[in-house]
Amino acid sequence: MYLSNGDFDLQVPGLATLHQRRSEKWSGHETDVLASTVAEMDFPLAPDVVAALHSAIDRHDLGYTPPTGTQLPAAFAGFARRQLGWTVDQDQVTLVPDVMAGLIELCRALLAPGEEVAFFTPAYPPFFAELPQARVELVLLPLGAAGVVDLEALQAALAGGVRALVLANPHNPTGRVIPLVELEEIADLCSSYGCWVLADEIHASLVLEGATHTPWLEVSDAARERGVALTSASKAFNLAGLKAALMITASDRAREAVRELPPLTDRVGILGVIAAEAAFAHGDRWLDVVRARLAGNRELLGELLAAELSKITWTPPQASYLAWLDCRALALGDNPAETFLARGRIAVSPGLDYGREGAGFVRLNFGTSPEHLTDAVRRVARAIS
Ligand SMILES: Cc1ncc(COP(=O)(O)O)c(C=O)c1O
Repeated sequence: MYLSNGDFDLQVPGLATLHQRRSEKWSGHETDVLASTVAEMDFPLAPDVVAALHSAIDRHDLGYTPPTGTQLPAAFAGFARRQLGWTVDQDQVTLVPDVMAGLIELCRALLAPGEEVAFFTPAYPPFFAELPQARVELVLLPLGAAGVVDLEALQAALAGGVRALVLANPHNPTGRVIPLVELEEIADLCSSYGCWVLADEIHASLVLEGATHTPWLEVSDAARERGVALTSASKAFNLAGLKAALMITASDRAREAVRELPPLTDRVGILGVIAAEAAFAHGDRWLDVVRARLAGNRELLGELLAAELSKITWTPPQASYLAWLDCRALALGDNPAETFLARGRIAVSPGLDYGREGAGFVRLNFGTSPEHLTDAVRRVARAIS
């Protein structure tokens, strides 16, 4: 996992080896298909995470997660300070199995049945499918050009009774990092209507060179008063199957609101806690290498698209490894992903899964090797040739 120069080896195996993986991304397709779908990276895990997981197995340590007393809040507080410029009060960190479970339970606790929760679209598909488990109504707020938040539409929704806003920042699928001024305006607006903001910052530690991310709880007093941030090590360190995420508050009101939630710690996976502790405590250097690789892949993708798929347009993401590609000029209908899979044997996520603004779009995952990324673009080119 280390190269002889002490750097990390992010070598991605060939397609046949990737298809041996059991995760959703790789197990869901025939073996000739290149999967560029689910938000997981193909790189090997960080060595400190691997070591922590191996030693847990060697200790036969697979029992329930203790309700209190894990090192995860402390490890995250250190990581947040170093990586995100965020001062986290460890006493205001609550473990949850995953970000979606936290969002659903927060909606259930903060909103009465039938009250409204809003989010910007296009959006991460489980927002549509899973938030209604909290018996809330969804209000969809289309993003403006280039993914910019439409503050007038937000104000109208707030005036119409929206009680909580789920704010994914960095955003999935556009990869946009919301600038501080826009966050301040959102905070002021939401505060003036007494609306909660559930800040989904799961991609925040993958902000790439050229962009600056401000954690929601660092935006302003208005943001802290009715704000809850949710995050985990899962996207940046590839741990999504291990089930350990964090909910963070920074005001008495928000802390009290989180206390109302049913305890979820016994549904948090012990391996997830162990892996996330290692990632947050020791993963900084590995993460630097990953971010540099992703920035390189983003550039490569731009070059490949320009050279081979000039009808596809995109705004390069400011964070993470997801490219939101506008394929409407290819005239393949609302779901070009179908054609790409059938004719090119490349699986990408259909834009329509992210809401109706996604018609004619696809989401491509570039968290892989330059070789597989080049292959991905060639497969799309073959599909439309
Ligand atoms: C914006 C966003 N929120 C939440 C999630 C899911 O997080 P979890 O697996 O912790 O529920 C993802 C996963 O890709 C995501 O992109």
